[in-house]
Amino acid sequence: MSTLSAPTIVGGPTLSQRRELVTEIPGPISRALLERKQAAVANGVGISLPVFTAAAGGGILLDVDGNSLIDFGSGIAVTGVGNSAPGVVDAVTAQAALFTHTCFSITGYDGYVEVAEALNRLTPGDHDKRSALFNSGAEAVENAIKIARHYTGRQAVVAFDHGYHGRTNLTMALTAKSMPYKSGFGPFAPEVYRVPTSYPFRDGGLTGAEAAKIAITQIEKQIGASNLAAMIIEPIQGEGGFVVPAAGYLAALSDWATANGVVFIADEVQTGFARTGDLFACDHEGIVPDIIVTAKGIAGGLPLSAITGRAEIMDSAHVGGLGGTYAGNPLACAAALASIDAFENDGLVERAAAIGELMLGRLRALAETDTRIGDVRGRGAMIAIELVDENGEPDAALTGRVASFAHAAGVILLTCGTYGNVVRFLPPLAISDELLNDGLDVVADALASTRSAV
Ligand SMILES: Cc1ncc(COP(=O)(O)O)c(C=O)c1O
Repeated sequence: MSTLSAPTIVGGPTLSQRRELVTEIPGPISRALLERKQAAVANGVGISLPVFTAAAGGGILLDVDGNSLIDFGSGIAVTGVGNSAPGVVDAVTAQAALFTHTCFSITGYDGYVEVAEALNRLTPGDHDKRSALFNSGAEAVENAIKIARHYTGRQAVVAFDHGYHGRTNLTMALTAKSMPYKSGFGPFAPEVYRVPTSYPFRDGGLTGAEAAKIAITQIEKQIGASNLAAMIIEPIQGEGGFVVPAAGYLAALSDWATANGVVFIADEVQTGFARTGDLFACDHEGIVPDIIVTAKGIAGGLPLSAITGRAEIMDSAHVGGLGGTYAGNPLACAAALASIDAFENDGLVERAAAIGELMLGRLRALAETDTRIGDVRGRGAMIAIELVDENGEPDAALTGRVASFAHAAGVILLTCGTYGNVVRFLPPLAISDELLNDGLDVVADALASTRSAV
């Protein structure tokens, strides 16, 4: 048990919703823990902002030194319903008192079935669906590909430039970026091919149809449609830089996949569950994927992931071909049901859209006075700015300086992008407008401070 746990501190929305620093960042207790971490935890497991957490809730993370930081990361798009959301805490506590594990493949429990029913009901399309539950996003992606190959009897899989799908062997192969995700970890899974995507800020403003034509031509010429089991795409790319494809791009790919017997897989691990101001990012353009992959926001911080797809595709795998010891753990299912209840009934989709309007408005105003902000983009509570130098080239150094300034000022700010030059905003949907504005003030100060440092 942690020697630092303070029983009087409670997380969740009752935590004081104010940014307040009482030590430098990181403070002495966090620094001591960091030293222990370096001696005990494998080097490859990094920490972006080396503070250690005591409690979290709403839009605040309280660290072990007593600093209250604004959370613009949600643990990478996970705690949409808020950290330690009361409904999630109650559901998990009640479930923990009943049983914590059976392995669903040994004896079943209703929570798993209820989550599957909810996913079948809520994901895009009103066709007959089936779901299967797993632990992580990468594990779910692997299973989506497994099923697509089994169903089609084909092997090739297409992924996209700037795509990110995880750190397991198959998902490393699907992921585009070498450092830090792939470098030195090969060989990678075979029969994975990468094609260009739609990246309006960097592809000269191709229309969705034009960008899709380039990708499809490459697939047809270099792989052959009849060899292709699946294409997997994030409707808005996450790690790749919050890239929103041009209108019509996803629909053109999806239509082509359907016409060619290719399973169209939407990886909504980061975009799913209200994050983008719709329940799923596919909903913005009426895309109905054959399989949708979800995780992160689904269970308020408990490890759960899922794939949901057309019944005939999902049911093609033989009994025992899918599963895992912990897959669809009962605590995670209880957390998911409480989270889904919040997504459906607490106005979180609308809240995500409102957060997006506030952030886009403020960031666009900043961009008007600062040419280093080359692009402001995103949807809902998934917004980013892409920073560039005077030649329009990606400016990763500036991005790092902005993030460091924000960290020191008590704002958890994440970066991403193939070129490391994107600042991304992923606040919990439980955050207040006051905290959003305060955090964005810090970002404006960060940009101003780096301007005077040049
Ligand atoms: C789009 C997408 N797919 C897959 C993953 C992998 O999920 P996990 O880290 O839970 O394995 C992520 C994680 O960031 C992601 O953003």
